[in-house]
Amino acid sequence: MKRLILLGSTGSIGDSTLKVVRALPDCFQVVGLAAGSDWKKLIQQAAEFGVRDVAVADGDSAAECGRHAPAGMNLRAGAGGIEALVRETEADCVVCAVVGLAGLRPVLAALQRGLDVALATKEVLVAAGPIVMDLSRRTGGRLLPVDSEHNAVFQCLAGAGIPPGAKADAQVRRIVLTASGGPFSSRREIDFDRVTVKEALAHPRWNMGRKVTIDSATLMNKGLEIMEAHWLFGVPLAKIEVLIHPESIVHSMVEFVDGSLLAQLSPPDMRFAIQYALTWPERRDGGLPSLDFTKIRLLHFEEPDMTRFPCLRLAREAATTGGSLPCVLNAANEVAVDQFLEGRIPFSGIARTVEQVMDAHEVIRAPDLEGLVAADAWARGQALLAMAQPV
Ligand SMILES: NC(=O)c1ccc[n+]([C@@H]2O[C@H](COP(=O)([O-])OP(=O)(O)OC[C@H]3O[C@@H](n4cnc5c(N)ncnc54)[C@H](OP(=O)(O)O)[C@@H]3O)[C@@H](O)[C@H]2O)c1
Repeated sequence: MKRLILLGSTGSIGDSTLKVVRALPDCFQVVGLAAGSDWKKLIQQAAEFGVRDVAVADGDSAAECGRHAPAGMNLRAGAGGIEALVRETEADCVVCAVVGLAGLRPVLAALQRGLDVALATKEVLVAAGPIVMDLSRRTGGRLLPVDSEHNAVFQCLAGAGIPPGAKADAQVRRIVLTASGGPFSSRREIDFDRVTVKEALAHPRWNMGRKVTIDSATLMNKGLEIMEAHWLFGVPLAKIEVLIHPESIVHSMVEFVDGSLLAQLSPPDMRFAIQYALTWPERRDGGLPSLDFTKIRLLHFEEPDMTRFPCLRLAREAATTGGSLPCVLNAANEVAVDQFLEGRIPFSGIARTVEQVMDAHEVIRAPDLEGLVAADAWARGQALLAMAQPV
């Protein structure tokens, strides 16, 4: 029985994680739950899974939660409350499915305790890869990838006897991350100045939270994933490729130095990745469906168009420069996506904002945590300023 703390339980990955727990009740016990603001859903989840220790990040929502929480519920409030939940609750594994850099400090708190972290929140590794990986090595807390592409690579590497945290570089010729391409990669007629929020949120394959869905539409998501793969598997950026694969059946591939290539395939449903991350190194039957190859028939692969999707180019540039630049790219992107979702900037404004903020940034070579926090705050302010200027 693995005891889980689930951060971001009220979101899309949170929902899918709880489905996995429901399907395998003998394997997992949920001992802690954390949400941003949806305290009503959190209370329902806590009641269903018999959880006493919870946290709510937003102050007002936490206060409301406190007024309605059943007797005996141990509620922590604010961003510090989520960290406290991780520090104080007896557990074996923390599932981090909080959106954005808000996941960083709770992940560091979990690793500090030597706990395994099943990580969905890619922004954590994008912004603070060296700090997170170093802490993981020092404490023995392992990072188990939940993001479907990285989980696929993790499965391919496990098949070759390479455990999480080991540098795979010596045995790997290249990693191929697949990308669905989002709603726009196959629609060349689309005018990115006029795309509506509804169109951008209409992902053809995956049903996900709003931020990651917009990141998929700009292909920033794949850029963030290049960095995530670089840190998770210790493979140089030059060996990490991206291919558009609209069917989202092959979730990623690893070509080994002998030229053989392993791929992981499954229907596009996050429960496959979450379940493997949580049951690893074992495999369990959680009732997930089989692929029907007679229905798939064709699988397509093509190169991404870096001109139409500048976010992918910007993320590669940030990754290559390193230092504080990936953190700055991530922060500017989080703010710009939020503003697009609020209807304040056009879709094309996301890449423009990120580029302007990156251009204005003086890169810090090897920032410590405080340096990253400062760079993150600077980039958020700078992004808001950039978006306030007339185009
Ligand atoms: N969804 C997917 O299929 C998928 C696939 C791969 C990777 N990911 C990654 O997984 C992460 C979560 O994605 P998602 O799609 O599940 O997002 P989501 O549906 O928007 O859920 C986000 C979760 O984070 C919580 N949250 C928001 N702000 C917070 C804060 N400041 N502090 C603590 N919690 C906060 C939300 O709480 P409230 O709703 O209560 O406010 C919610 O529980 C993202 O990093 C994403 O890139 C997602």
